[in-house]
Amino acid sequence: MTHENRPTVLVARGIFPEVVVKLRQHFDVKTNDTDEDWSAAELASRLQGCVGALTTGSQRIDDALLTACPQLKIVANMAVGYNNFDLTAMANHGVVGTNTPDVLTETTADFGFALVLATARRLTESEHFLRAGLWTRWAYDLFAGSEVHGSTLGILGMGRIGQGVARRGAHGFGMRVIYHNRSRLDAATEAECKAEYVSKNDLLAQADHLVLVLPYTPGNHHAIGAAELKQMKPTANLINIARGGIVDDAALAQALRDGQIAAAGLDVFEGEPQVHPELLTLPNVVLTPHIASATVGTRKAMAHLAADNLIAYLTQGQPLTPVTPR
Ligand code: DGY
Repeated sequence: MTHENRPTVLVARGIFPEVVVKLRQHFDVKTNDTDEDWSAAELASRLQGCVGALTTGSQRIDDALLTACPQLKIVANMAVGYNNFDLTAMANHGVVGTNTPDVLTETTADFGFALVLATARRLTESEHFLRAGLWTRWAYDLFAGSEVHGSTLGILGMGRIGQGVARRGAHGFGMRVIYHNRSRLDAATEAECKAEYVSKNDLLAQADHLVLVLPYTPGNHHAIGAAELKQMKPTANLINIARGGIVDDAALAQALRDGQIAAAGLDVFEGEPQVHPELLTLPNVVLTPHIASATVGTRKAMAHLAADNLIAYLTQGQPLTPVTPR
Protein backbone atom coordinates (compact mmCIF):
# COMPACT_ATOMS: atom_id res chain seq x y z
CA MET A 1 0.00 0.00 0.00
CA THR A 2 1.39 3.42 -0.89
CA HIS A 3 1.00 6.46 1.39
CA GLU A 4 -0.02 9.72 -0.16
CA ASN A 5 2.81 12.28 -0.35
CA ARG A 6 5.48 9.79 0.69
CA PRO A 7 8.30 9.51 -1.83
CA THR A 8 8.89 6.10 -3.36
CA VAL A 9 12.31 4.47 -3.57
CA LEU A 10 13.44 1.24 -5.20
CA VAL A 11 15.90 -1.23 -3.68
CA ALA A 12 17.19 -2.81 -6.87
CA ARG A 13 18.77 -5.95 -5.38
CA GLY A 14 18.20 -8.24 -2.41
CA ILE A 15 19.30 -6.62 0.83
CA PHE A 16 19.27 -7.06 4.62
CA PRO A 17 15.59 -6.86 5.71
CA GLU A 18 16.50 -4.41 8.52
CA VAL A 19 17.60 -1.89 5.89
CA VAL A 20 14.24 -2.12 4.13
CA VAL A 21 12.54 -1.59 7.51
CA LYS A 22 14.67 1.53 8.04
CA LEU A 23 13.80 2.91 4.60
CA ARG A 24 10.08 2.22 5.20
CA GLN A 25 10.16 4.69 8.10
CA HIS A 26 10.57 7.42 5.46
CA PHE A 27 9.46 6.11 2.09
CA ASP A 28 7.24 3.75 0.19
CA VAL A 29 9.76 1.07 -0.72
CA LYS A 30 9.70 -1.25 -3.72
CA THR A 31 12.06 -4.22 -3.38
CA ASN A 32 13.56 -7.03 -5.44
CA ASP A 33 12.66 -9.89 -3.12
CA THR A 34 13.96 -12.63 -5.41
CA ASP A 35 17.22 -10.70 -6.00
CA GLU A 36 16.92 -11.02 -9.77
CA ASP A 37 19.36 -9.34 -12.14
CA TRP A 38 16.92 -7.06 -13.92
CA SER A 39 17.61 -6.00 -17.51
CA ALA A 40 18.03 -2.26 -18.14
CA ALA A 41 14.45 -2.14 -19.46
CA GLU A 42 13.10 -3.96 -16.41
CA LEU A 43 15.03 -1.65 -14.07
CA ALA A 44 13.64 1.42 -15.88
CA SER A 45 10.14 0.03 -15.61
CA ARG A 46 10.52 -0.75 -11.88
CA LEU A 47 11.89 2.76 -11.30
CA GLN A 48 8.79 4.49 -12.63
CA GLY A 49 7.53 6.89 -9.97
CA CYS A 50 10.65 6.48 -7.83
CA VAL A 51 12.72 9.43 -6.64
CA GLY A 52 15.51 7.29 -5.22
CA ALA A 53 17.23 3.98 -5.93
CA LEU A 54 19.53 1.81 -3.84
CA THR A 55 21.77 -0.02 -6.29
CA THR A 56 24.85 -2.23 -6.39
CA GLY A 57 27.65 -2.16 -8.95
CA SER A 58 25.59 -4.35 -11.27
CA GLN A 59 22.98 -1.73 -12.26
CA ARG A 60 24.16 0.61 -15.01
CA ILE A 61 22.95 4.18 -14.48
CA ASP A 62 23.26 5.94 -17.83
CA ASP A 63 21.56 8.48 -20.05
CA ALA A 64 19.00 6.02 -21.47
CA LEU A 65 17.89 4.93 -18.00
CA LEU A 66 17.75 8.48 -16.65
CA THR A 67 15.79 9.69 -19.68
CA ALA A 68 13.28 6.90 -19.05
CA CYS A 69 13.05 7.77 -15.31
CA PRO A 70 12.69 11.56 -15.12
CA GLN A 71 11.50 11.51 -11.50
CA LEU A 72 14.72 9.99 -10.21
CA LYS A 73 16.76 12.32 -7.97
CA ILE A 74 19.35 10.10 -6.30
CA VAL A 75 21.05 6.75 -6.86
CA ALA A 76 22.80 5.35 -3.78
CA ASN A 77 25.33 2.65 -4.65
CA MET A 78 26.03 -0.01 -2.05
CA ALA A 79 29.71 -0.06 -3.09
CA VAL A 80 32.70 2.21 -2.83
CA GLY A 81 33.27 1.77 -6.59
CA TYR A 82 30.84 3.53 -8.89
CA ASN A 83 31.98 2.68 -12.41
CA ASN A 84 28.36 1.64 -13.05
CA PHE A 85 27.50 5.36 -12.93
CA ASP A 86 27.75 7.52 -16.05
CA LEU A 87 28.66 10.64 -14.09
CA THR A 88 28.18 12.98 -17.04
CA ALA A 89 24.67 11.67 -17.69
CA MET A 90 23.84 11.93 -13.98
CA ALA A 91 25.06 15.54 -13.88
CA ASN A 92 23.06 16.35 -17.03
CA HIS A 93 19.91 14.91 -15.47
CA GLY A 94 20.59 16.51 -12.08
CA VAL A 95 20.74 13.11 -10.38
CA VAL A 96 22.95 12.72 -7.30
CA GLY A 97 25.10 9.61 -6.95
CA THR A 98 26.52 8.32 -3.69
CA ASN A 99 28.87 5.48 -2.71
CA THR A 100 29.95 3.75 0.53
CA PRO A 101 33.52 4.79 1.36
CA ASP A 102 35.34 4.16 4.66
CA VAL A 103 33.02 1.50 6.08
CA LEU A 104 34.67 -1.20 3.96
CA THR A 105 38.29 -0.03 3.99
CA GLU A 106 39.75 -2.31 6.65
CA THR A 107 37.73 -5.38 5.67
CA THR A 108 38.77 -5.03 2.03
CA ALA A 109 42.40 -4.48 3.02
CA ASP A 110 42.19 -7.65 5.16
CA PHE A 111 41.00 -9.56 2.12
CA GLY A 112 43.72 -8.09 -0.10
CA PHE A 113 46.22 -9.41 2.39
CA ALA A 114 44.45 -12.77 2.54
CA LEU A 115 44.96 -13.04 -1.22
CA VAL A 116 48.63 -12.05 -0.90
CA LEU A 117 49.14 -14.86 1.60
CA ALA A 118 46.97 -17.44 -0.17
CA THR A 119 48.69 -16.79 -3.49
CA ALA A 120 52.25 -16.76 -2.13
CA ARG A 121 51.72 -19.85 0.01
CA ARG A 122 49.65 -21.76 -2.59
CA LEU A 123 46.76 -22.24 -0.22
CA THR A 124 43.97 -23.29 -2.57
CA GLU A 125 46.21 -25.35 -4.85
CA SER A 126 47.53 -27.38 -1.92
CA GLU A 127 44.08 -27.81 -0.41
CA HIS A 128 42.72 -29.17 -3.69
CA PHE A 129 45.66 -31.63 -3.79
CA LEU A 130 44.90 -32.81 -0.25
CA ARG A 131 41.13 -33.12 -0.85
CA ALA A 132 41.81 -35.11 -4.00
CA GLY A 133 43.61 -37.74 -1.86
CA LEU A 134 46.98 -37.05 -3.52
CA TRP A 135 48.92 -36.37 -0.30
CA THR A 136 50.90 -39.50 0.48
CA ARG A 137 54.10 -38.18 2.07
CA TRP A 138 56.07 -35.12 3.17
CA ALA A 139 58.47 -33.75 0.57
CA TYR A 140 61.03 -30.98 0.82
CA ASP A 141 59.50 -29.02 -2.06
CA LEU A 142 55.81 -29.85 -1.56
CA PHE A 143 53.95 -26.64 -2.47
CA ALA A 144 56.98 -24.51 -1.71
CA GLY A 145 55.81 -20.97 -2.31
CA SER A 146 57.26 -17.52 -2.01
CA GLU A 147 58.16 -15.44 1.03
CA VAL A 148 55.76 -12.76 2.27
CA HIS A 149 57.54 -11.37 5.34
CA GLY A 150 60.52 -9.23 4.44
CA SER A 151 59.65 -9.13 0.71
CA THR A 152 58.63 -6.12 -1.37
CA LEU A 153 54.95 -5.22 -1.47
CA GLY A 154 53.94 -3.06 -4.43
CA ILE A 155 50.64 -1.19 -4.42
CA LEU A 156 49.09 0.39 -7.50
CA GLY A 157 46.41 2.85 -6.35
CA MET A 158 47.11 4.26 -2.91
CA GLY A 159 43.69 5.40 -1.68
CA ARG A 160 42.18 4.34 1.62
CA ILE A 161 42.23 0.60 0.84
CA GLY A 162 45.73 0.72 -0.65
CA GLN A 163 46.95 2.42 2.51
CA GLY A 164 45.29 -0.31 4.59
CA VAL A 165 47.12 -3.00 2.60
CA ALA A 166 50.38 -1.03 2.99
CA ARG A 167 50.01 -0.77 6.79
CA ARG A 168 49.39 -4.51 7.05
CA GLY A 169 52.47 -5.27 4.95
CA ALA A 170 54.80 -2.80 6.64
CA HIS A 171 53.75 -3.19 10.26
CA GLY A 172 52.50 -6.79 10.27
CA PHE A 173 54.92 -8.53 7.93
CA GLY A 174 58.00 -6.29 7.90
CA MET A 175 57.70 -5.76 4.16
CA ARG A 176 59.29 -2.99 2.16
CA VAL A 177 56.31 -1.10 0.71
CA ILE A 178 56.46 0.77 -2.59
CA TYR A 179 53.50 2.39 -4.33
CA HIS A 180 52.43 4.26 -7.41
CA ASN A 181 49.41 6.53 -7.54
CA ARG A 182 48.09 9.39 -9.67
CA SER A 183 49.29 11.74 -6.96
CA ARG A 184 51.90 11.23 -4.28
CA LEU A 185 50.69 10.96 -0.65
CA ASP A 186 51.69 13.58 1.90
CA ALA A 187 54.78 12.82 3.95
CA ALA A 188 52.85 11.99 7.14
CA THR A 189 50.69 9.36 5.38
CA GLU A 190 53.73 7.89 3.63
CA ALA A 191 55.47 7.63 7.02
CA GLU A 192 52.43 6.02 8.65
CA CYS A 193 52.26 3.42 5.86
CA LYS A 194 56.07 3.18 5.67
CA ALA A 195 55.55 3.47 1.92
CA GLU A 196 57.89 4.81 -0.73
CA TYR A 197 56.57 6.48 -3.89
CA VAL A 198 58.04 5.04 -7.11
CA SER A 199 57.31 5.25 -10.85
CA LYS A 200 54.96 2.66 -12.34
CA ASN A 201 57.93 1.08 -14.13
CA ASP A 202 59.87 0.70 -10.88
CA LEU A 203 56.78 -0.65 -9.15
CA LEU A 204 56.38 -3.35 -11.80
CA ALA A 205 60.07 -4.22 -11.81
CA GLN A 206 60.60 -4.36 -8.04
CA ALA A 207 57.39 -5.76 -6.46
CA ASP A 208 57.37 -9.34 -5.20
CA HIS A 209 53.63 -8.99 -4.56
CA LEU A 210 51.82 -6.37 -6.64
CA VAL A 211 48.37 -5.46 -5.28
CA LEU A 212 45.97 -3.50 -7.51
CA VAL A 213 43.62 -1.18 -5.63
CA LEU A 214 42.88 1.55 -8.14
CA PRO A 215 39.37 2.59 -9.22
CA TYR A 216 38.21 1.55 -12.69
CA THR A 217 38.11 4.41 -15.18
CA PRO A 218 38.38 4.21 -18.98
CA GLY A 219 41.95 5.53 -18.54
CA ASN A 220 42.79 2.56 -16.29
CA HIS A 221 41.43 -0.04 -18.73
CA HIS A 222 44.09 -2.77 -19.05
CA ALA A 223 46.50 -0.77 -16.87
CA ILE A 224 48.09 -4.21 -16.44
CA GLY A 225 48.42 -5.86 -19.85
CA ALA A 226 51.02 -7.92 -21.71
CA ALA A 227 53.63 -5.12 -21.66
CA GLU A 228 53.30 -4.49 -17.92
CA LEU A 229 53.34 -8.22 -17.08
CA LYS A 230 56.61 -8.54 -19.01
CA GLN A 231 58.14 -5.90 -16.72
CA MET A 232 57.39 -7.96 -13.58
CA LYS A 233 59.73 -10.47 -11.96
CA PRO A 234 59.20 -14.13 -12.93
CA THR A 235 58.86 -14.81 -9.20
CA ALA A 236 56.24 -12.08 -8.63
CA ASN A 237 52.58 -12.50 -7.67
CA LEU A 238 49.78 -10.23 -8.92
CA ILE A 239 46.73 -9.53 -6.74
CA ASN A 240 43.60 -7.79 -8.12
CA ILE A 241 41.02 -6.56 -5.61
CA ALA A 242 40.16 -3.48 -7.69
CA ARG A 243 37.93 -4.08 -10.71
CA GLY A 244 37.79 -6.37 -13.69
CA GLY A 245 39.05 -4.60 -16.78
CA ILE A 246 42.04 -3.09 -15.00
CA VAL A 247 43.89 -6.31 -15.85
CA ASP A 248 43.85 -7.79 -19.35
CA ASP A 249 42.78 -11.26 -18.16
CA ALA A 250 43.74 -12.97 -21.45
CA ALA A 251 47.26 -11.50 -21.25
CA LEU A 252 47.44 -12.51 -17.58
CA ALA A 253 46.48 -16.11 -18.35
CA GLN A 254 49.21 -16.21 -21.02
CA ALA A 255 51.79 -14.72 -18.62
CA LEU A 256 50.90 -17.25 -15.92
CA ARG A 257 51.09 -20.11 -18.40
CA ASP A 258 54.43 -18.92 -19.77
CA GLY A 259 55.96 -18.40 -16.31
CA GLN A 260 56.37 -14.67 -16.91
CA ILE A 261 55.04 -14.16 -13.38
CA ALA A 262 54.65 -16.81 -10.67
CA ALA A 263 51.01 -16.60 -9.61
CA ALA A 264 47.92 -14.43 -9.26
CA GLY A 265 45.16 -13.89 -6.70
CA LEU A 266 42.01 -12.48 -8.29
CA ASP A 267 38.76 -11.32 -6.73
CA VAL A 268 37.51 -9.40 -9.78
CA PHE A 269 37.35 -10.27 -13.47
CA GLU A 270 36.67 -8.78 -16.88
CA GLY A 271 33.04 -9.55 -17.72
CA GLU A 272 32.35 -11.11 -14.29
CA PRO A 273 30.65 -13.29 -13.21
CA GLN A 274 32.19 -14.91 -16.29
CA VAL A 275 35.84 -15.81 -15.73
CA HIS A 276 38.36 -16.17 -18.55
CA PRO A 277 38.29 -19.97 -19.17
CA GLU A 278 42.08 -20.30 -19.10
CA LEU A 279 42.29 -18.79 -15.63
CA LEU A 280 40.01 -21.58 -14.44
CA THR A 281 42.44 -24.24 -15.66
CA LEU A 282 45.67 -22.77 -14.26
CA PRO A 283 46.89 -24.11 -10.90
CA ASN A 284 48.82 -20.97 -9.96
CA VAL A 285 45.79 -18.72 -9.53
CA VAL A 286 43.64 -18.16 -6.46
CA LEU A 287 40.14 -17.20 -7.58
CA THR A 288 37.38 -15.65 -5.45
CA PRO A 289 33.96 -14.29 -6.51
CA HIS A 290 34.22 -10.52 -5.78
CA ILE A 291 33.98 -10.91 -2.00
CA ALA A 292 36.69 -8.56 -0.71
CA SER A 293 34.19 -6.49 1.33
CA ALA A 294 32.02 -9.47 2.24
CA THR A 295 31.86 -9.75 6.00
CA VAL A 296 28.41 -9.59 7.56
CA GLY A 297 29.34 -6.50 9.56
CA THR A 298 30.81 -4.62 6.61
CA ARG A 299 28.07 -5.51 4.15
CA LYS A 300 25.52 -4.30 6.73
CA ALA A 301 27.46 -1.07 7.22
CA MET A 302 27.53 -0.56 3.42
CA ALA A 303 23.78 -1.19 3.09
CA HIS A 304 22.99 1.16 5.97
CA LEU A 305 25.20 3.90 4.54
CA ALA A 306 23.50 3.59 1.14
CA ALA A 307 20.08 3.82 2.85
CA ASP A 308 21.24 6.74 4.99
CA ASN A 309 22.30 8.57 1.83
CA LEU A 310 18.77 8.18 0.42
CA ILE A 311 17.23 9.37 3.69
CA ALA A 312 19.62 12.31 4.13
CA TYR A 313 19.18 13.58 0.60
CA LEU A 314 15.45 13.02 0.19
CA THR A 315 14.51 14.35 3.64
CA GLN A 316 17.17 17.05 4.15
CA GLY A 317 18.69 17.72 0.73
CA GLN A 318 22.19 16.66 1.82
CA PRO A 319 23.68 13.30 0.77
CA LEU A 320 26.31 11.95 3.17
CA THR A 321 28.86 10.60 0.70
CA PRO A 322 28.22 12.03 -2.77
CA VAL A 323 30.35 11.20 -5.78
CA THR A 324 28.60 13.63 -8.13
CA PRO A 325 28.65 17.39 -7.79
CA ARG A 326 25.37 18.84 -6.45
C1 DGY B 1 32.90 -2.03 -3.90
O1 DGY B 1 32.49 -1.58 -2.82
O2 DGY B 1 33.15 -1.31 -4.86
C2 DGY B 1 33.06 -3.49 -3.95
O3 DGY B 1 33.65 -3.90 -5.14
C3 DGY B 1 31.75 -4.20 -3.68
O4 DGY B 1 31.02 -4.33 -4.80
